[in-house]
Amino acid sequence: VGNGLARTPPMGWNDWNAFGCDVTQALVEQTADVMVSSGMAAAGYRYVNIDDCWMTSSRDAAGNLVPDPAKFPGGITETAAYVHSKGLKLGIYEDAGTLTCAGYPGSLGHEQQDARSFAAWGVDYLKYDNCYNNGSTTQQQYIDRYTAMRDALAATGRPIVYSLCEWGVNAPWTWAPNVGNLWRTTDDINTGFDSMLRNFHQSVGLARYAGPDAWNDPDMLEVGNGWSAIEDRAHFSLWAIMAAPLIAGNNLTTASATTLATLTNRAVIAVDQDALGAQGVLVQTRNGLDVLSKRLSNGDVAVVLFNETTTAQPISTDAATIGKSGGSAYTLTDLWTGATSSTTGAISTSVPAHGAAMYRVSGGASGNPNAPAGTLVSAAS
Ligand code: GLA
Repeated sequence: VGNGLARTPPMGWNDWNAFGCDVTQALVEQTADVMVSSGMAAAGYRYVNIDDCWMTSSRDAAGNLVPDPAKFPGGITETAAYVHSKGLKLGIYEDAGTLTCAGYPGSLGHEQQDARSFAAWGVDYLKYDNCYNNGSTTQQQYIDRYTAMRDALAATGRPIVYSLCEWGVNAPWTWAPNVGNLWRTTDDINTGFDSMLRNFHQSVGLARYAGPDAWNDPDMLEVGNGWSAIEDRAHFSLWAIMAAPLIAGNNLTTASATTLATLTNRAVIAVDQDALGAQGVLVQTRNGLDVLSKRLSNGDVAVVLFNETTTAQPISTDAATIGKSGGSAYTLTDLWTGATSSTTGAISTSVPAHGAAMYRVSGGASGNPNAPAGTLVSAAS
């Protein structure tokens, strides 16, 4: 939605993947501290997002949502003030139906009142879920519910990024770009690598719907939640080239140096955050070996060679396939090692099982900056 609040994909952290319902003010504040001390904030992560289970199981006598005093003794107001004091922004979670997914009061029929609470508390980002939506709801009713909250947020006058978690709705990308800054394109990710693969496949073909203030969201990151460093780097490379929101989902207070190095790789983040706002496309796919390319604002092209299989495999492509042409000399910068090399067009390497190589390709002609890089091939299943 054209509110100017997410010109590039939102970056931040959310408690759900690592903590589920165990969210507290202390966790949020400690995470804000670590966002700064670890270098995450300097790398671009801004939003500290509270997911489900932050409130009491009923509204107060005036119908207001109530932060659970056991979990948030200072309420959301104090939590937001702390996060803001670190130079960061605070996100919260609600639901378009009668209850949140974990069974707390939903916003249906209370959209304006709840939006006013969020704004008064100092909230900067709302993830709006779709549980307890009265099963028989039509597509138009879903759109109306999500639009009602969009308008309620706008009416508060406070800038609040609007993240739709409208799972269960058919093809939300056909209407969500007019309603939210981002919308979920997939089922929930989990700590199985297969769920990452599924979400990648569900989102990679949707590039034409993405752009500034309107992003496909294949769900939050699982970097640091149990996969190998190779798998974590592949996941992060894929999300970056798909211009996905980069919302870390691990425990930052115990994150290893390797995990933090993955999450703060500036060269990879620059691909995700490129000002052109193009989502990368799949330009080659065969037997679980994928090539994605993403056109960048300075005429460079980012490339990911991704090996979905469980054995190391060579992956090869060339400049023409990724949408670079008109030259005979290109520079490849490996975005994970920093190494540079020259090529007349071939881009080829051995990629480990579940791994990815990622490059920035410079030189040659920049082509039409508005055209997708390369020729879209249909997503492999
Ligand atoms: C849904 C969402 C998740 C998370 C939970 C919270 O499953 O898709 O991302 O917010 O609800 O209950």
